[in-house]
Amino acid sequence: MKLVEASFSIVLVILLVEFIGWNGSLAAFTPPDNYLIACGSTKDVTFQGRTFVPDSGHPSLTLKTGTSSGSSVATSNSSFPSPIYQSARIFSSVATYNFDIQQQGRHWIRLYFYPIPGSAQNLTAASITVVTKDFVLLHNFAFKNYNGTFMFKEYAVNVTSDTLTLSFIPSNNSVAFVNAIEVVSIPDVVLPDQAWTLNPSTSVDGLSDLAYETVYRLNMGGPLITSENDTLGRVWENDAEYRHVNNSAVDVSTNPASIRYPAALKPETAPNMVYATAVAMGDPSVTNANFNMTWVLPVNPNFRYLVRVHFCDIISRALNTLVFNLYVNDDLAQGLDLSTITGGLGVPYYRDFVSNSSTESPDTLMVSVGPDTAADITNATVNGLEILKISNDVKSLDGVSSVESLTPQSHSKSHKVGIIIGSTAGAIAAFAILGLCFICMRAGKKDPHQQQGGHSWLPLPLYGISQTITKMSTTSQKSASASCISLASTNLGRFFPFQEIMDSTNKFDETLLLGVGGFGRVYKGTLEDGTNVAVKRGNPRSEQGLAEFRTEIEMLSKLRHRHLVSLIGYCDERSEMILVYEYMANGPLRSHLYGTNLPSLSWKQRLEICIGAARGLHYLHTGATQSIIHRDVKTTNILLDESFVAKVADFGLSKTGPSLDQTHVSTAVKGSFGYLDPEYFRRQQLTEKSDVYSFGVVLMEVLCTRPALNPVLPRDQVNIAEWAMTWQKKGMLDQIMDQNLVGKVNPASLKKFGETAEKCLAEYGVERPSMGDVLWNLEYALQLEETSSAAALNEAEDNSTNHIPGIPLTPLEQFDNSVSMMIDGGGNSGTDDDGEDATTSAVFSQLVNPRGR
Ligand SMILES: *[C@@H]1O[C@H](CO)[C@@H](O)[C@H](O)[C@H]1NC(C)=O
Ligand SMILES: *[C@@H]1O[C@H](CO)[C@@H](O)[C@H](O)[C@H]1NC(C)=O
Ligand SMILES: *[C@@H]1O[C@H](CO)[C@@H](O)[C@H](O)[C@H]1NC(C)=O
Ligand SMILES: *[C@@H]1O[C@H](CO)[C@@H](O)[C@H](O)[C@H]1NC(C)=O
Ligand SMILES: *[C@@H]1O[C@H](CO)[C@@H](O)[C@H](O)[C@H]1NC(C)=O
Ligand SMILES: *[C@@H]1O[C@H](CO)[C@@H](O)[C@H](O)[C@H]1NC(C)=O
Ligand SMILES: *[C@@H]1O[C@H](CO)[C@@H](O)[C@H](O)[C@H]1NC(C)=O
Ligand SMILES: *[C@@H]1O[C@H](CO)[C@@H](O)[C@H](O)[C@H]1NC(C)=O
Ligand SMILES: *[C@@H]1O[C@H](CO)[C@@H](O)[C@H](O)[C@H]1NC(C)=O
Ligand SMILES: *[C@@H]1O[C@H](CO)[C@@H](O)[C@H](O)[C@H]1NC(C)=O
Repeated sequence: MKLVEASFSIVLVILLVEFIGWNGSLAAFTPPDNYLIACGSTKDVTFQGRTFVPDSGHPSLTLKTGTSSGSSVATSNSSFPSPIYQSARIFSSVATYNFDIQQQGRHWIRLYFYPIPGSAQNLTAASITVVTKDFVLLHNFAFKNYNGTFMFKEYAVNVTSDTLTLSFIPSNNSVAFVNAIEVVSIPDVVLPDQAWTLNPSTSVDGLSDLAYETVYRLNMGGPLITSENDTLGRVWENDAEYRHVNNSAVDVSTNPASIRYPAALKPETAPNMVYATAVAMGDPSVTNANFNMTWVLPVNPNFRYLVRVHFCDIISRALNTLVFNLYVNDDLAQGLDLSTITGGLGVPYYRDFVSNSSTESPDTLMVSVGPDTAADITNATVNGLEILKISNDVKSLDGVSSVESLTPQSHSKSHKVGIIIGSTAGAIAAFAILGLCFICMRAGKKDPHQQQGGHSWLPLPLYGISQTITKMSTTSQKSASASCISLASTNLGRFFPFQEIMDSTNKFDETLLLGVGGFGRVYKGTLEDGTNVAVKRGNPRSEQGLAEFRTEIEMLSKLRHRHLVSLIGYCDERSEMILVYEYMANGPLRSHLYGTNLPSLSWKQRLEICIGAARGLHYLHTGATQSIIHRDVKTTNILLDESFVAKVADFGLSKTGPSLDQTHVSTAVKGSFGYLDPEYFRRQQLTEKSDVYSFGVVLMEVLCTRPALNPVLPRDQVNIAEWAMTWQKKGMLDQIMDQNLVGKVNPASLKKFGETAEKCLAEYGVERPSMGDVLWNLEYALQLEETSSAAALNEAEDNSTNHIPGIPLTPLEQFDNSVSMMIDGGGNSGTDDDGEDATTSAVFSQLVNPRGR
């Protein structure tokens, strides 16, 4: 009874610690498996703040040796490298440590070796082979062939059974030995299943089945970080030794507390001390301004390597001032525009690549960063670098022998182990209960991504569009597809199993179809609890759709507002790309304007809807840390809920706006014809004012209840912006407004509305009001409608001086004849009732140097 109580409170304590660690990122990660073993020692050994216990008498560790039991050696000579090396266990035949594993998954295996002098055997001559059940970690290692006094090895293996076996095999009639062993759980997020190759850049899957050996782990420009300062007990070395001679790099640092981890990254990825120090390019006044900083790392050419590069912009004073390239060997790995990727300064980011050693110099692997020639600020930075050797085809990290070939007699093992386990069954049972509860509870609160393993689309380039536009050369494609951010714990709402999605949409019943776009289809769904949702199912074959899908996820995970459609969850099982939104009962605004039999909206309702949408856009432009430009404002992207509250939807084309020191973002033109800002179209320069223009078109559509472009109409009426503007300038908007409204609108309110739309449709962005001004004016129009007072009328009169002279909207003319369709990014959340803007997906691929002006 007491035992049960005790275990239970231990579980609670562990869970509590876990909970804090996982969510607050404040407490350290507590590994479910945490073996710190001082082999051959008779007492506990404290090393770098952690306590290693003797290997004799550890309750869930058994040691099985062959003919003779391993002998131990210890010394009290304090001039040894560190206390951990002061004892060893020596084996003259194959010996196996069995570690009970509480939670399967990746584990560190860390081994410490030091040939203690003065022992009975000559340990310098000892030849050591270490294998797990599947992998060869070390093969015939001997200190006499080694250029060092002690050796530390770190491996990461995915343990897929309840026991991890670690066998030490002596060879050449010698002995094997080990001083200390660590077996410690690694959180699943830390080591990926997927990474990118270089030249050509493709993804490599299945890494979780392979073993790694840490070859380098460098804290660029920073001090040695020992295991006590890393939540996963890793050691980070300074990089200076590996810098290519005289590359004029400078070390930079900032306060570690200023590092802001994005949701997808944890201190488990790398401690803030790694991100708080970096290397940057030297002072331009004393060096050639354009050079690469290169690290040359000796490696074994017979293996592939996982190259993880950590970045965090601690050198810029403002966003969007740092653009540089990363090279692995001589291949461009990624163009890096950290501001765009991370959305802020001091925000960590990392990227994984799989690479061979350099072809030119096969015994090395080279990592370089250098300025982008297109950038106007010449600088580059790196914060951390990890190089992990990947196990080869015979599952070895050392040589070409497999475990089978090294341990031919390996099956007779399990019997004896069984007996040992049996004798300690009581203790193990208690442990098992504890472990089971722990695993269940942990699984319950784990990020759903980690449970599913189906996130095939998540590691794909999230920033495909924004990366592409920062480059002019052909390499842009490569860099675009190489960019990535892990979404593992981004705020995506709840994870839906695919089966639940199937059930909620009645297996994607076509009668529940709400809309179709380039990205795929939107269905109405009903969750088990009766909640209605909109289920957007991405079409995996649509590259364009994929890019937009990612953008949408990225945007929505950052945004929450009453007038933006909100995300409830997602599903990425079975390569599906499904987002689940709140259901908007009244569908797209357009279906209430024309093309359906729905009742006509009153003027007041229309004003309220426009105000709601304007609020949503105003929030996009100003509410987030960096402004966001929607780029596809139109009446099908303004959705109405059951109370006709308007919400802006579809962020598939959205982009973060210009930063403080920029006036615009240069980008390929995307959007929908009829709504497209002529200035943006001409100059490929995107600002918030492009959305204001599109919103002006929406206002005219709301008033006149006709499509933005209607090619069947006479030439001068095709384009609503052009047509309505001529009437507005004549002050005769009432002539073209919805017949249902005639006589039911306060003239002052209409006047204010017309003026607002007119200003939005100004030829030049600078002449257009901000969304905040638009909002204010629309609210004023609503007030006029509500009060209809004479005083308000006079004031409106006074305010109407700000007329903008008419400038013909020429840029759109050429499309009126040749292309009568819209350029549709494809992301309609709503119904495309007349099919007019449903399909054509055209992208103006002219790329523009963002810094060239
Ligand atoms: C301790 O070890 C060092 C080198 O390993 C050796 O020079 C020294 O004599 C040893 N001291 C004792 C007391 O054994
Ligand atoms: C141990 O072996 C190495 C290499 O075979 C040899 O150089 C060294 O002299 C030996 N030491 C002793 C104490 O036998
Ligand atoms: C073991 O013996 C083989 C052949 O006798 C030799 O080639 C090899 O170098 C030896 N290994 C070690 C670690 O001494
Ligand atoms: C051993 O290390 C020394 C100094 O670190 C170095 O000069 C030497 O080349 C190394 N020898 C080998 C075989 O690696
Ligand atoms: C470990 O391997 C199993 C089976 O291949 C896999 O399902 C799991 O995702 C892997 N875990 C990690 C952390 O890679
Ligand atoms: C590492 O951690 C220890 C104990 O928490 C602390 O005293 C020490 O200052 C840390 N080292 C660095 C370089 O911050
Ligand atoms: C690096 O280059 C600079 C100028 O090019 C020179 O002054 C300096 O001595 C060099 N340093 C080394 C270590 O070669
Ligand atoms: C790069 O940034 C660092 C840190 O701000 C600065 O010291 C260095 O002079 C910059 N290098 C260039 C070439 O501008
Ligand atoms: C930097 O290295 C890459 C790859 O080797 C090379 O293509 C590029 O020209 C280098 N840049 C400079 C400025 O040397
Ligand atoms: C590494 O080299 C091997 C053979 O030399 C080649 O088959 C493989 O594709 C290369 N891998 C990468 C990632 O470049």
